[in-house]
Amino acid sequence: MDWWKSVCEKTDFIENLYFPKSEKRKQQWNMLINDVESRLSLTKGADILEVCCGTCAVGVGLATRGYNITGLDLSESMLEYAKRRAEENKVEVEFIKLNALDIVTLKKKFDAVLLIDMAFGLLGECREDDIKLIKGIKEILKEGGKLLVEISNLEAYKLKGEFNMNGSSFRYSYKFNSSNNTIETEAFVEGVDEIRKGVGRVYSMSEVSTLFKSAGFNRLSFKSMDGKEEINNQNPSYILLCE
Ligand SMILES: C[S@@+](CC[C@H](N)C(=O)[O-])C[C@H]1O[C@@H](n2cnc3c(N)ncnc32)[C@H](O)[C@@H]1O
Repeated sequence: MDWWKSVCEKTDFIENLYFPKSEKRKQQWNMLINDVESRLSLTKGADILEVCCGTCAVGVGLATRGYNITGLDLSESMLEYAKRRAEENKVEVEFIKLNALDIVTLKKKFDAVLLIDMAFGLLGECREDDIKLIKGIKEILKEGGKLLVEISNLEAYKLKGEFNMNGSSFRYSYKFNSSNNTIETEAFVEGVDEIRKGVGRVYSMSEVSTLFKSAGFNRLSFKSMDGKEEINNQNPSYILLCE
């Protein structure tokens, strides 16, 4: 969390990535919002919670299409960006400052929860926290509610070892450590001396199945980011729909 706070306070990292000026990047975000909307396949007005919402790019996009969105994040400064986005798009979104691990304290229940943008497994190295998070999400879903989660793809990391994202003023890298199946995240940002670091845990598909089933989700469907049934191991993540 502190990592994100310091990056967004001192640099244009968040602006470049989450408020893009180029039409191409804007289109990429729109495609992701279309994709999430069609995978969830809910009626307009459904209650959707975006966990670790950050600037709430997808959540606010769904709000403009008539869904009732709540965004949750631990970081005050990220929630400021999210509020700005909601204002710019002229939509009402409720934002809640909360540690996702305390999600069961929410009073409301939801038709769907989103945990996307590589948030799952990257909150820390601790498997117990990941289990607590998924169980908590299951508890705040309505009967028949859905969880859409982006999962870091262990097979892709095994294959490539490292993924990089390069922007005009930053380089963001995810390096795989095969000794304990963790991903080390590093961000090099122009004008900032320190390198920002974080560590997360990545799971095999069978571990993922066990984790989500043990939290009470009976139906799991795995799809590549491009929507295909077969997981593309060139891609650092894939999407899991849990029902
Ligand atoms: C990759 S960013 C998400 C960006 C987001 N998809 C967007 O549209 O801007 C990850 C977010 O997770 C939040 N986060 C990290 N740990 C958290 C926790 N334990 N509880 C809630 N939010 C957390 C960070 O503050 C950050 O905003």
